[in-house]
Amino acid sequence: MITPQPRQRNNSPKRTVSIIGTGSYVPEKILTNADLEKSVETTDEWITTRTGIKERRIAADGEFTSDMAAKAALAALENAGITAEEIDLIIVATVTPDMFFPSTACFVQTKIGAKNAACFDVSAACSGFLYGIEIAQQFITSHTHDTILVIGAEKLSSIVNWTDRNTCVLFGDGAGAAILRHRAHGHGVIATRMGSNGELADILKIPGGGCALPTTVENAAERHATIQMNGRETYKHAVTAMVESARQVLDDAGLTPADLACIIPHQANLRIIEAIADRLEVPMDRFMINLDRYGNTSAAAVAIALDEANRTSRMKVGDYVLLVVFGGGLTWASSVVQW
Ligand code: ACO
Repeated sequence: MITPQPRQRNNSPKRTVSIIGTGSYVPEKILTNADLEKSVETTDEWITTRTGIKERRIAADGEFTSDMAAKAALAALENAGITAEEIDLIIVATVTPDMFFPSTACFVQTKIGAKNAACFDVSAACSGFLYGIEIAQQFITSHTHDTILVIGAEKLSSIVNWTDRNTCVLFGDGAGAAILRHRAHGHGVIATRMGSNGELADILKIPGGGCALPTTVENAAERHATIQMNGRETYKHAVTAMVESARQVLDDAGLTPADLACIIPHQANLRIIEAIADRLEVPMDRFMINLDRYGNTSAAAVAIALDEANRTSRMKVGDYVLLVVFGGGLTWASSVVQW
């Protein structure tokens, strides 16, 4: 039996919420565009010019979302220099949970030994990691929790229709994690924004596998429980939503695009990132891009890119960083962090 931790609520001044550590993990197996040429009617040239993706990682058969999430979390703990027992909340953003319940966050808790944490998952498709960052910020600023582990993790290879060339070339597996904590006299999350438009749910979804369309022996061959996407519509809304969200959050922070040292966008498509760069009038070299190596890893994408940016010293102390994402729902979110 775990003893509940005492919680405090008070009206103290707003607390600074810092990202004190990051981590990521991608599976060993690499699936290249040339490999895909052998299974669907596509070419490396088509995938590269339309998306910028060259290869993606694929989890092993017995390797689940919680396994990848736990590895990213352990890397983040090491990076932050804290122990798992210090974490009091774990939020896992994923559309590929190990199972409907228990939450993947509960499996991560056990795998890393975070015995003092409460755990839940967030469902916001690709936007989930930044939804998690905003939730964590709110919990810390409201003084209910002090040290929160936010993870974006996906085994998208388990929900891709590998016979559909429109989608199977886009996605990959992996996990990224960040640890947020109040840090007096430090820099941190300055502003966050989340948004959704359920009216556009149909353009990007997994229609089956839930209670609306359960997978049965009769319908299993129709692969309803795999990703379905209207690529053109998704592309259009992705650019608009991310540009508007970025402008709003920069406005909230009292900054302009020119103030940003680094932008960590959703890693879905290089042309989407180029369109955002163009509209925000920010040079491409300020964008952290790794989609060529991992494809789109949904909720893990921004989290992995953040960790790689951190570990390659893309951000210096005091720099302003914009994280911006878009996904099924539709959902979108952005955060401005002073590093
Ligand atoms: N290889 C070769 N040809 C292909 C492939 C492929 N892998 N996929 C589609 N095509 C064909 C289509 O069948 C079509 O052929 P047709 O003209 O004979 O009908 C042709 O290529 C053009 O298809 P479009 O869909 O118009 O191609 P487009 O230039 O729009 O690129 C893409 C498609 C890459 C999917 C683009 O629309 C896109 O990136 N959209 C956004 C996708 C996205 O970001 N999704 C995820 C966001 S949220 C999340 O992460 C879950």
